[in-house]
Amino acid sequence: MKLFLDSANLEEIREVASWGVLDGVTTNPSLCSKESVTFEDNIRAICALTPGPVSAECVSLEADEIVVEARSLARIAPNVAIKIPIGVEGLKATKALHAEGIAVNMTLVFSTGQALLAAKAGARFVSPFIGRLDDIAEDGMALVEEIVQVFENYRLETEVIVASVRHPRHVIDAARLGADIATVPYGVMAKLVRHPLTDIGVERFLADWRKVKK
Ligand code: G3P
Repeated sequence: MKLFLDSANLEEIREVASWGVLDGVTTNPSLCSKESVTFEDNIRAICALTPGPVSAECVSLEADEIVVEARSLARIAPNVAIKIPIGVEGLKATKALHAEGIAVNMTLVFSTGQALLAAKAGARFVSPFIGRLDDIAEDGMALVEEIVQVFENYRLETEVIVASVRHPRHVIDAARLGADIATVPYGVMAKLVRHPLTDIGVERFLADWRKVKK
């Protein structure tokens, strides 16, 4: 399973890259709005920190405009993936961009039907937002399960990015279901590393090591 960082913050991305576990990065306008650098400079800098895909989101609404915006974002670095919200215009743009060899991450996916259409249009990734479904008392992980099953049935090459991750259990459940990728906020990534019994174990071993004859 691949782990992406859901962040536009260079320090967080540099830190997780240094752990040796970073397979890519996803950003969105909300994450980018928290950073002080310009959008393009930030995406360029992120792309230099990981060889993996870095999602940069389009904000145009018409297919033709999405394609123009996507081409310009794709020129920033070879590992840019274009995030496009699912919708009729987004699907049209995805088909055109796929034909040009530009990777699309179809985002704001909340149903299996949306995921299937995205895959058929040629999206390289689909991003179901599971946390936002859980927030409204729906079952985000059930959506992931259904999308993974449908993609497997037809051997669709589109990869499932489990997004809107809120806690470590989301990552583990996504892995159990065979999702290709989870995109994980820094805080959740940090929680994945830690376990209180590991901390207690290290403390105890160090205390005992001091008693070992050397
Ligand atoms: O990057 C897209 C997604 O992960 C957003 O998550 O927490 O805003 O629902 P959230």
